[in-house]
Amino acid sequence: MDLFEYQARDMFEKHGVPVLAGIVADTPEGARAAAEKLGGVTVVKAQVKTGGRGKAGGVKVAKTPDEAEAAAQTILGLDIKGHIVKRVMVAAGADIKEEFYFSVLLDRANRSYLALCSYEGGMEIEQLAEERPEALARVEVDPGRGIDLDKAREIAVEAKFPTELVEKVAPVFVALYEVYVKEDATLVEVNPLVLTGSGAIVALDGKVTLDENAAFRQPDHAALEDKASTDPLEAKAKEHDLNYVKLDGEVGIIGNGAGLVMSTLDVVAYAGEKHGGVKPANFLDIGGGASAEVMAAGLDVILGDAQVKSVFVNVFGGITACDAVANGIVKALEMLDDTATKPLVVRLDGNNVEEGRRILADANHPLVTIASSMDEGADKAAELAAK
Ligand SMILES: Nc1ncnc2c1ncn2[C@@H]1O[C@H](COP(=O)(O)OP(=O)(O)OP(=O)(O)O)[C@@H](O)[C@H]1O
Ligand SMILES: [Mg+2]
Repeated sequence: MDLFEYQARDMFEKHGVPVLAGIVADTPEGARAAAEKLGGVTVVKAQVKTGGRGKAGGVKVAKTPDEAEAAAQTILGLDIKGHIVKRVMVAAGADIKEEFYFSVLLDRANRSYLALCSYEGGMEIEQLAEERPEALARVEVDPGRGIDLDKAREIAVEAKFPTELVEKVAPVFVALYEVYVKEDATLVEVNPLVLTGSGAIVALDGKVTLDENAAFRQPDHAALEDKASTDPLEAKAKEHDLNYVKLDGEVGIIGNGAGLVMSTLDVVAYAGEKHGGVKPANFLDIGGGASAEVMAAGLDVILGDAQVKSVFVNVFGGITACDAVANGIVKALEMLDDTATKPLVVRLDGNNVEEGRRILADANHPLVTIASSMDEGADKAAELAAK
């Protein structure tokens, strides 16, 4: 889960990383009030989970509360790479003398952590890495040892910080590493980290990605989730531990196992070409246990998508045999009753397939069509969706 800049800022503050005051606002009037409260020069910054906000006009300096209000007026509602700005952070203005770059991240390929650091900040790090790779230090961080003061100094020296600055930035690197480890992050990035006119080191921007696998031991992190922009169907699926991704098409898809679901998407898209270009409406993996409850939850999510015209259930019985899946479908349709209104094509194969098909045939539900193969099922579902 990526955090907004203002959330990263708060997290930095909690772990002793030097930051400036910042107040979040979602209206121009709110931004004016924030600027009045902060006093002096402020910077109005778009809060969106994407980079390059400055270049897109999402970061503006305001000398007065009037200017902050006007800046928020233009920034709120702005579309930055497909992200609509709903909030701004009004931050205290920094007197920037120099800009640096620092990040620590999970290096999966090396099964280690990696610190990236440059004395030359202020430009896009991707560009720096490409044009002047020697200016970007890459220092492996042993997860067992982490970044203590000595390691932090090593990183700063490696990044070509002048000696007098090494002692200043090192404790900040240590604090940023504390954010990384204590918050179970996979990325902590500061661009720019700055030296101010008065000689202080301050993190002016923050990007943090949290590891959702650690949610069980980070009870505070749930509150950081951006519920407003989470799709309601995705939220419902998550409640039931289903892997669900909404897509643009018309054929709802339920399968078990990511590989099978992915290939089902392909087969449906292919079949759809013969039926006016209908496409998969989603990706939904019900995983190993295709019980009635799980099947009902899955169908409930998919039928809740107004764009869905037909549903293709493609299940390969393994540990959960086809008869259990078939019973699950029949019971799920009973449970959903009137809310199930769209045609369902079911293809079962694998463990106990004969019994599974018999159960579906006996139930003889008006919405259900049994398919004997994946291709046939995809074709039927696409045809029904095109009607
Ligand atoms: N509080 C501040 N005071 C003074 N200048 C600031 C402040 N915050 C940002 N700036 C200036 O604006 C520039 C861009 O800000 P920031 O790094 O937050 O956004 P960005 O880099 O454009 O966006 P992203 O990091 O999402 O790519 C900074 O490099 C810095 O020069
Ligand atoms: Mg930045």
